[in-house]
Amino acid sequence: MIVLGIESSCDETAAAVLADGRRLLSNVVASQDAIHAPYGGVVPELASRRHLEVIGPVIQQALDQAGVKLANLDGIAVTQGPGLVGSLLIGCSVAKALAWVHRTPLVGVNHLEGHVYAAFLTDDPPTHPFLALVVSGGHTALYHAREPLRYTLVGQTRDDAAGEAFDKAAKLLGLGFPGGPAIQRAAEQGDPRAVAFPLAQMTDGARDFSFSGIKTSVSLYVKRRPPLSAAQVADVAASFQAAVVKMLVRKTIRAALHLGVKRVVLTGGVAANGPLRQALGAEAAEHCIALHIPPPQLCTDNAAMITAAGTARLRAGERAGLDMNARPDLALA
Ligand code: KG4
Ligand code: ZN
Repeated sequence: MIVLGIESSCDETAAAVLADGRRLLSNVVASQDAIHAPYGGVVPELASRRHLEVIGPVIQQALDQAGVKLANLDGIAVTQGPGLVGSLLIGCSVAKALAWVHRTPLVGVNHLEGHVYAAFLTDDPPTHPFLALVVSGGHTALYHAREPLRYTLVGQTRDDAAGEAFDKAAKLLGLGFPGGPAIQRAAEQGDPRAVAFPLAQMTDGARDFSFSGIKTSVSLYVKRRPPLSAAQVADVAASFQAAVVKMLVRKTIRAALHLGVKRVVLTGGVAANGPLRQALGAEAAEHCIALHIPPPQLCTDNAAMITAAGTARLRAGERAGLDMNARPDLALA
């Protein structure tokens, strides 16, 4: 089964070709970082215009690298949501047009399920049931996947997504966009114990996350000590990163122990973060929990993961009609 996947939910235009749900024949990602960097964040209108310009060549490149023709595809999978509506519309419209012209089965994929399915493209895919921590620029949530294609929401952020917090903290520290990799780089020279940033506690016992308190603390720290030296910036970056990692690891392990699951998937753009991968790995090992983390390039937005999730849904008999529409607030659970 050969499936073409298309991803355009935010600021990456991506296409991939996957055989039999596991063998990646091509995986093309066109980043828009350079377009949005001057604004310190993604500008939705610029994102959709850029998608429109490059989506054709990106799909062609994915097909060429895979040595596959559109007419020979067994399916087309496209991100239907969540994401920016203008960006999603580009991918959905192209996918529908291709599916109609070539009479190819079409399926809409939830972007967050795509992130989870990145774990199935590794040499060590998870088996159900498992707990998935999806940490991206727009979402931070824990899902219990008891069986294939079904998810229960265990906890989520009450304010910023973890990636959003990284991006905002990086902006405050003048480290540029996207913030996650910039914070990680700066933190390598800093002391994670230099500043004690507060970790939010949920008084109602919910397994939710909150990052706005840490972000506000970074903002206050920066405003009270202008201008920060390079060493201070590194210390704040390291301390901020340590606080975010601590919150993510603590809540995830607690939820896994409470639910009695023995497997955890860590995925989404923030899962590319080295210290997070190491800290969750160490804590999971301590509790005899198997941890599945896709390689960094499959954690950040890509179409391989959308194709993997789409193949699973096509195999389950799911089909989208030509009336399929972009759904910016599509939920996974
Ligand atoms: O999953 P993703 O590529 O796009 C969304 O679906 O949002 O995630 C992007 C987010 C951004 O906020 C970016 O700063 C963050 O992932 N990110 C990282 C790292 N690489 C990307 N955060 C921390 N450390 C990283 N190495
Ligand atoms: Zn994403």
